[in-house]
Parts: sequence; structure tokens; C-alpha cells
Amino acid sequence: MVKNSNEERDAKVFALYEQLVEIEQRLIPTGLHVFGRPSSAGEKTDLLKMIASFDRPEVGARAIPEELLDDAVRVFLENGVDAAVRVTGEASRPVFNLLETVCTRLQSNNEIDSLVRALRGEFIEPGPGADIIQNPDILPTGRNTHAINPYGVPSAAAFARSETVANSLLHRYKNENGRYPEAMALVLWGLDNIKTQGEGVAQALWLLGTRPVRDALNRTTSVEAIPLAELGRPRIDVVMTVSGIFRDLFSPTVQLLDKAVRLVAQLDEPLELNYVRKHVLQQVDQDRCDLDDAAVRVFSNAPGNYGTNVNFMVMDSQWEREETLGDLFVTRKCFAYGRDSTGRAFEGREARVAMDRALSRVEATYQNIDTFEIGLTDVDHYFEYLGGVSKAVEKRAKARPAIYLSDSLSREVKIRSLEETVRLETRAKTLNPKWYEGMLKHGFRGVAEIENHVSNTFGWSATADAVDDWVYTEVANTFLFDEQMLERLRDLNPHSAHSLTQRLLEANGRGYWDVDKDVLEKLREISNSLEDQLEGVV
Ligand code: BEZ
Ligand code: MG
Repeated sequence: MVKNSNEERDAKVFALYEQLVEIEQRLIPTGLHVFGRPSSAGEKTDLLKMIASFDRPEVGARAIPEELLDDAVRVFLENGVDAAVRVTGEASRPVFNLLETVCTRLQSNNEIDSLVRALRGEFIEPGPGADIIQNPDILPTGRNTHAINPYGVPSAAAFARSETVANSLLHRYKNENGRYPEAMALVLWGLDNIKTQGEGVAQALWLLGTRPVRDALNRTTSVEAIPLAELGRPRIDVVMTVSGIFRDLFSPTVQLLDKAVRLVAQLDEPLELNYVRKHVLQQVDQDRCDLDDAAVRVFSNAPGNYGTNVNFMVMDSQWEREETLGDLFVTRKCFAYGRDSTGRAFEGREARVAMDRALSRVEATYQNIDTFEIGLTDVDHYFEYLGGVSKAVEKRAKARPAIYLSDSLSREVKIRSLEETVRLETRAKTLNPKWYEGMLKHGFRGVAEIENHVSNTFGWSATADAVDDWVYTEVANTFLFDEQMLERLRDLNPHSAHSLTQRLLEANGRGYWDVDKDVLEKLREISNSLEDQLEGVV
């Protein structure tokens, strides 16, 4: 008995320790990029450490071990490559050569000059678009960002990396639910798939149990099925909601994904090992439709349209029932893309019933996060997409799906639930003094960023009920009930301070934040005094 409780205690302490390390190691942007200004010394050091902590097979470099990293980077900055190599050993010379190049490129900032030249209609040198840690070749900034050849997607590296992500995702669901999900909804974005050369695309192909096939011109134009014996698990039915940007940039990839679904739907395999076929046959039977219509799985906006508008509806508080948010998502995204069995392409055919049916079977939703720079609460796009599709599933499947995100950039692939990710983002950013003080240095804009983060967090309450009460309580304590902080926010940007107060009141009003009456009373007082101040200002 005693031993048992000791073990339990140790397990709890260890789990807490792991969470603390996770928050501590989270890389966060501390402040906004100022157009035309090179990075500061502190930012540069953090960035170099991050770059040096990953294996870089493309330059023959291994990650610098964690215990040597701080010293090695300090010595490198003070005394250069040779001195740093003496700390870590000759094998890490390629890393320091890379850091030297990065340092040189960080010093020059051509952004303003390039903008002026662009406005004059002059030539701007091209450069790759990517995450700076993943691909330091994006430096120097101020170049004309070029994208990617869609026929190269997914790259061999992206496909290989994605096997682990897809397996971890399925493993996590199975651990929590005792079986594989029969159907999942995935969100695919254009810029993300540019940065990772198609990791999101590759994950979808893995879930279906297919691999890309290149033609004689080395273009990825087809797919083949991975045999079930090799796959070792069922093929998962995948509903793909792709952004308008993805649709525009990756037209051949949209066709490839549709082709993969149709290929799998037609395999003569046991239905308990091929959920795509199982569902397609079910639908043909129930709806008396043909196979072509039952196999539609790639959805986006109508041609020429972008976005879900779920973010605008949430930000403007223009909704009464949560299900409206999911319905809006479907209204915006129910346009099917692909090619039917006669070879005729359909590009943006309205297919609301097909989308309703496909979503009604979904048990888990997922999006790949592939950048250190932008997370769940930095922009309103994560909740408009992943939150929007999850809310749409909830009504159609009559059950809230499990919602997951991956962190495919960390050294080990990590799958987190939405709730875990919101907690991590809140602790690493919104409530982290290092983050908000970095923002407050930007004055008016910084306060607006803090308010944005709280509103984006609220977006996860509205679309997925994924925010704990303590998050709102601590936001109120940190920014509004601390008198000095409230004074600073008032001085810098009373408009955003007021919006922040209103958002917290809305969180309570809509049932996302259970809090005492006196707290609400205090919030209303602050809101009223900010209103008085604003009326005086205007
Ligand atoms: C995209 O890259 O597809 C994307 C960018 C911003 C918001 C939504 C999607
Ligand atoms: Mg709650």
C-alpha cells in the first residue's frame, strides 16, 4: 500500500517534471519582427542554438549535444569556428560553418531596400520560403519568396518522416480508444506544405496506406497501395479539407490525393482492414449513389474563394449556437476536387451532401504543426480550420471527435491533444512574462497581440470547448487584476485592453469560464472605466 502510493507520487512528480521541461524547452518568438531591422544579439544567440540542436544531413552536420550547446555557441560567438570546434570536437565543424553563414546573413537586412526596388518595378532576387530553423537558406530576408514544384511533393524525406507521425497519431488514438479510428479529417495548408515539402500530404497518404509514385520525368503523378501485410493495420478513411491557397498552389497534389482515395476504395480487401472501401460501399448502398460520388474526400472552397469565415464570426461575436460555426465551415468548404472514373476532372463542384456524409463518420481530426514561429493561439486560422471542421464533425457524427496536433519539428515527433496544446501555448506564450514583455516593448501593437492571443484562445472554446477555466482566470489575474499591468495596457492601447475585458466577459457569458460573481463585477468595473477613458480619448 505504502509502496504503491510512493510509486504513484513518483509517477506524478515525474509527469510534472516532464511538463515543466516541455514548457521550458519550447521555442517562442519574443517580440515581433520589425521590418528592415536585423535581429538583436539575444535573438541571434537563441536562433543559433536552435539551428545547432538539429541534425543537418544536407550539410553533413550532427546536432550539438544539449549539455555542450550553451558553451559551444557562446565560444563560437566570441572566438569563431575553430574555438567552438575545440569544445565539441572536429565532427561538428560543419554545424559551425553553417552558423557562420547564418550570422553573416543575419547581419544584412535588405528588406527596405528590396521593397523600394520592388515598388520601382526592379528585379528582386528569389529565395526559398521556409521555417528559418528548418531551412536557414531563407536568409537573407528581403528576397522574392518562391514556392515549390508541386510535382515534387511529397519529397522522399517528407514521406519518410511522415510514417512516424502517422503511426504515432494512430497509436495515440488506439491507446485512448482501444481501436483505430475508422475515419479522420485532416486540414492541409499551402504554406505548410511548401515549408515541409509536403509532410501533411505524406501523412494523408500514409493513413490511407499508399505511397507516391514518380513518372519518367520524376514527377509525382501517381500512387500505389502499400500491401496490407506490410502496412500491418487497417487503411484509414481520410477526409481532407484543404485551404484555398493549397488548392491553388498544389493542383496536381489535390488530384494525387483524390486518386489515392479512389485507388484504395477499389481494392479487393476485407472491409475491417479497409475503412475507405467499407464506407464507400455503405454509402453507395444507403444513398443509391454511384461509386464516384461516394468516394469524394478532397474538399476546399469554391473556385476563387478562400477561408472558412469561422474566425470572423467568432471575432465579431456574431453567433448564437456553436453548431452555426461548424455549418459555416461546411458551407464554405463543401466544394469537391478530383477526377471521376471516366477521367473527367471536377474542380470545385458543390458537394454538400457528400461532405456531410464523409464528416459523419469521422472520429478524429488532425493538423500538422510544422513551424516554431506560429502556433495555435498566434493566428485565428488554426481554430477556423481545425476548430471549424471539428465542430462540423460533432454535429454530423453526433459525437465530438478526438482532436490532435503534431509537433513534427521537435526532435521526437510528438502528438498532442488539442487541450494539451492549448495549455502548452498558454503557458509558453500568453502567460509567460518573457513572451508578453517582449510584446509590450512594441507598445500599441504589442497590447493588440496579447488581446489577439486571448481571442484566439477563446476561438478554441467556441469551436471545440478545449480551454480550461484556469486559462481565463490567469489571463484576468495577469493582465487586468494586476494594477500596474492594467495601467501599462491602458496607457499603451486602451482599445485592446477593453476588447480583452469584453472577451473574458463573453467567455463567461457563453459558459466557457466558470467564475465567481465578484470577479465578474471587477471585470465589469474595469470595462466601464476603459469605456470612459475611450470616450474621453475620442
Ligand atoms: C495556407 O497556407 O494554406 C493558409 C495560410 C493562412 C491561413 C490559412 C491557410
Ligand atoms: Mg470548460
